[in-house]
Amino acid sequence: MPHFLDIHTTDRAALRAMIDQAHSMKTARADRPKGTADDSQPLQGRMVALIFEKPSTRTRVSFDMGVRQMGGQSMVLSGSEMQLGHGETIADTARVLSRYVDLIMIRTFEETVLHELAEYASVPVINGLTNESHPCQIMADILTYEEHRGPIKGRRVVWLGDGNNVCASFLHAAGQFGFDMVFAGPDALDPDPKAVAFARAQGAQVDIMRNAEAAVAGADLVVTDTWVSMHDSQSNRERRHNLLRPYQVNDALMAHAKPDALFMHCLPAHREEEVTNAVMDGPQSVVFDEAENRLHAQKAVMRYCLGV
Ligand code: CP
Ligand code: NVA
Repeated sequence: MPHFLDIHTTDRAALRAMIDQAHSMKTARADRPKGTADDSQPLQGRMVALIFEKPSTRTRVSFDMGVRQMGGQSMVLSGSEMQLGHGETIADTARVLSRYVDLIMIRTFEETVLHELAEYASVPVINGLTNESHPCQIMADILTYEEHRGPIKGRRVVWLGDGNNVCASFLHAAGQFGFDMVFAGPDALDPDPKAVAFARAQGAQVDIMRNAEAAVAGADLVVTDTWVSMHDSQSNRERRHNLLRPYQVNDALMAHAKPDALFMHCLPAHREEEVTNAVMDGPQSVVFDEAENRLHAQKAVMRYCLGV
């Protein structure tokens, strides 16, 4: 019963197989109305709980649709409306939910909550974002890159801005999928040193830089994210904006990347802050393919967890 808690703690061959399965499942149902079922129904008879302790558009809708397309059922639960948000322990919540449902996806704050849930659940648990990581997003991003440009192995991925949860999962993926990462941002917002160490230990080159233009030189993929994540205090907003403004992704910066470089953002984007409209809506942007691919990648993640 494998959980899907993080990219660096998931078997490398299994990660590769999930990307490949996601691609073939996507291709098999191309052009069908979105509400139609897949030909194969591997989640028939399965119930999936989707728990949200933070807001979500993509994760919520893509998991729900993925379950339905594969013949399962899902229930969306808001953390604040559960006893979990009112003093019941995570361990007891895990034990109880395991008696009702076959699979749990949770979006939460500290990753200790995710790990405790996984420890005490007797069904698989999927990480739908914590303060520390966002592995489902990066599975979708790998799928997206490879659909457009072929294997990501050996490519140069440049992350601009805040070394946050999404950045950490990209670093984990650099180690597992064999690509190089450049981080460019202020030292106060450097990425998780454990994620950097993991990627390097697997043989990925990871460079930490301060100059955005120098960092982007030779990039195959340019990525950024919001300057203020859901877990960040709004009182630091102005300080973060001041620190991060030099790392905005705009046309002038993209001109330093390879001519065929792609641009990614997990969304939601703050247009004209971390990225300009011109880049978001420009020919190098694949941000809406990323959003779509959350659906396809997570269908493969759920199949992996359930062994179906
Ligand atoms: N990218 C992402 O996880 O989006 P949501 O917060 O809308 O789920
Ligand atoms: N870094 C962002 C990602 C949102 C999908 C956050 O955690 O809010």
